[in-house]
Amino acid sequence: MVVNIKTPIPGPNTQKYKAISEKYEAHCLNQQAPIVWDHAQGVTVWDVDGNSFIDWTSGVLVTNVGHAHPKLAEAISKQAKRLLNCYDSPTIERITCAERMVGLAPENLDNAFFATVGSEAVDAAVRVAKHFTGKFEIMSFYGGFHGRTMGTMSLAGKMGTKKGFGPVMPGFFQVPFPDPYRNPFGSCDGDVAGQCLEFLDVAVKAQSTGSLAGLIIEPYQGAAGFIFPPDGFLKSLEKWCKDHEIIFILDEVQSSFGRTGKFLALEWESLRPNLVSIGKGIGSGMPISCLLAESRIMGTLGEGEMSSTWGGNPICTAATHAILDIFEEEKLVDNALNIGNHMKKRLLKIKDTCRYLGDVRGRGLVMGLDIVKDKKTKERDPETTRKIINECCQNGLLIGAVSGNVIRVAPPLVITKDEADESLDIMEKVLTNL
Ligand SMILES: Cc1ncc(COP(=O)(O)O)c(C=O)c1O
Repeated sequence: MVVNIKTPIPGPNTQKYKAISEKYEAHCLNQQAPIVWDHAQGVTVWDVDGNSFIDWTSGVLVTNVGHAHPKLAEAISKQAKRLLNCYDSPTIERITCAERMVGLAPENLDNAFFATVGSEAVDAAVRVAKHFTGKFEIMSFYGGFHGRTMGTMSLAGKMGTKKGFGPVMPGFFQVPFPDPYRNPFGSCDGDVAGQCLEFLDVAVKAQSTGSLAGLIIEPYQGAAGFIFPPDGFLKSLEKWCKDHEIIFILDEVQSSFGRTGKFLALEWESLRPNLVSIGKGIGSGMPISCLLAESRIMGTLGEGEMSSTWGGNPICTAATHAILDIFEEEKLVDNALNIGNHMKKRLLKIKDTCRYLGDVRGRGLVMGLDIVKDKKTKERDPETTRKIINECCQNGLLIGAVSGNVIRVAPPLVITKDEADESLDIMEKVLTNL
């Protein structure tokens, strides 16, 4: 058993530190479960009061190899004693890390560029697409989230990311995403993917100045509520980009490193994007991201035209090496698929009897539980969602939500069947007793 709750939640130490946080920390961070974290190992998190919890967040889908994996910690510590930073000067760690990343990608992606965070890798993709085509417009999707820099914010299809920070960059516009649960065209029924594909040409005719450089999409929309497009949509989109001679950018910042039960989510449909941005799991807690690219496209940038102070630094690339070793040794991609299937089966059963659980969706170890007031109207229920987050925490399960009402099921990929069942028992109990 992982869970051991010894104090009321929040415990006395949590309350003490929360009061200090309230006074001194910026209040712009996302609300999380009501504890202060102390340390963590695998899927277990301990708070500052000694309570232990099962983690369904992985931070924010980051710690794919589990919290504080001993091999990762050792690699970081060893590298810290050798070399921390040397800017763009080549190191064995960075060079061989690029080789490994390219080796794991489809054959057309033969170049790697390392950066620090996901937003930076997405920004880099946009820069490369503009530079290569000599054009400046980028199309993205309603509900999309690609980061919080001024560039990536301009790609967002969610008002929450942009509100109060306008104007966004000119030349960026959005089109509807095929959400199978809530059709973006309102009450329309039928082939949502087909409707969205047809709309692409309508949007270009209406909004483009004739300078469309590229299109960016997430394999599934994370921040919008773990929305997976119908099978085949992304492949059709790839063809549409090819037919229109624009760069196809896949944002795998969240979906890569085994999260969906494939190493890269693009493997589900054998996609061949021109550019792929990767983040989160590639560092499993260390700040590293990567842009995988076709060298014919990346090669458009000359010396000094794109680099980053911390990009591909020795300690982060050493960490990625350790993470890739752990993935191989512990077969984490297979584990994500197997445990994910098991969890989804149980969650779908719970859905049948819980009147608030409108939809269970996802793949591998990334799922969304859509909490609604009424299963027919699908009206979102943020209030009940907050209650569920709090009750789960009281019972030893750490969860978070996106879009106000979609609970994130995203444990570290090292989760065992026993740990999955222990956590599902908690979720079932909370949903049953609402
Ligand atoms: C799909 C996607 N792209 C980009 C980002 C931005 O990554 P970061 O917060 O590391 O800049 C995120 C973060 O949640 C994301 O989910």
